[in-house]
Amino acid sequence: MNYQDITKEELFNKLQELQQKHNSLKTKYQNDIAGRMQAEEQVLKLNKKLQSLFKHIEDVREKDLASIAHDLHDDLGQNLTALEMELSWLHNTYFKNNLQISGKTFSMLKLLQDTIKRTQKIARDICPSILDKFGFEPAVKVLFSEFEEKTGIKCIVKIQLVTKDFSKKKALVIYRVLQECLTNVARHSKATKVSFELLQEGKYYAINITDDGIGIRDEDINNPDSFGLLGIKERVLSLNGIIKISGINDRETNIFIKIPI
Ligand SMILES: Nc1ncnc2c1ncn2[C@@H]1O[C@H](COP(=O)(O)OP(=O)(O)OP(=O)(O)O)[C@@H](O)[C@H]1O
Ligand SMILES: [Mg+2]
Repeated sequence: MNYQDITKEELFNKLQELQQKHNSLKTKYQNDIAGRMQAEEQVLKLNKKLQSLFKHIEDVREKDLASIAHDLHDDLGQNLTALEMELSWLHNTYFKNNLQISGKTFSMLKLLQDTIKRTQKIARDICPSILDKFGFEPAVKVLFSEFEEKTGIKCIVKIQLVTKDFSKKKALVIYRVLQECLTNVARHSKATKVSFELLQEGKYYAINITDDGIGIRDEDINNPDSFGLLGIKERVLSLNGIIKISGINDRETNIFIKIPI
């Protein structure tokens, strides 16, 4: 088309048509952006709700665990100890000289003592009262030394804190994270060594948990069904911290956590 042939009126109409197209595109674009922003806002709100739901469930869970641990330790534990004393008395008073029966009562006593120890260990695992009694550092050292004894995986623990007043909540959350990490090391890593380092760096605690095993895969780190890892992430988030999980094939798995003091 030759532009000289276009009349003023046609040009005006064309311009109007273009203007309308421009306006409707602009409105569509603005609606798209508004829609996306709304969707993002909703996702953020949902995330916040999920996080507070997780916190709530964790609080309830910790309370339930404390109560179960209390029952295990006090009721069951005390009854077992009483039973052990009675059996021990029977064994020493009546059966000591009867080889046939004393062999049986002796092995019953051993079984009872083992059951008492196991009950205490279960109570300690589900509600680490050792944290309250002795503080974070000794509790973590016991956790790792028991792990080393049970699995044969060498543990190296390094804790350097300038201020020792670790809040109770923080201590319990980090302890739970460590329990989950150690369970994973035992179950999946094929490691021979695991190290835990907690350093105070300015206004943060920096934590590194590293094992020398097969190395966690990216697909496991990003899998939305990795609920153990999700629990660790949520716990760290509940302390306003950040977490980075990484793996090097056949070399190591590292979990780095940074938490504000
Ligand atoms: N230290 C590790 N070394 C190698 N792989 C790991 C390690 N920790 C986790 N993984 C991998 O990441 C996956 C997800 O871990 P996650 O703790 O979420 O689940 P899980 O241990 O399989 O089950 P659970 O829900 O009982 O914890 C594991 O199945 C395992 O394949
Ligand atoms: Mg796990």
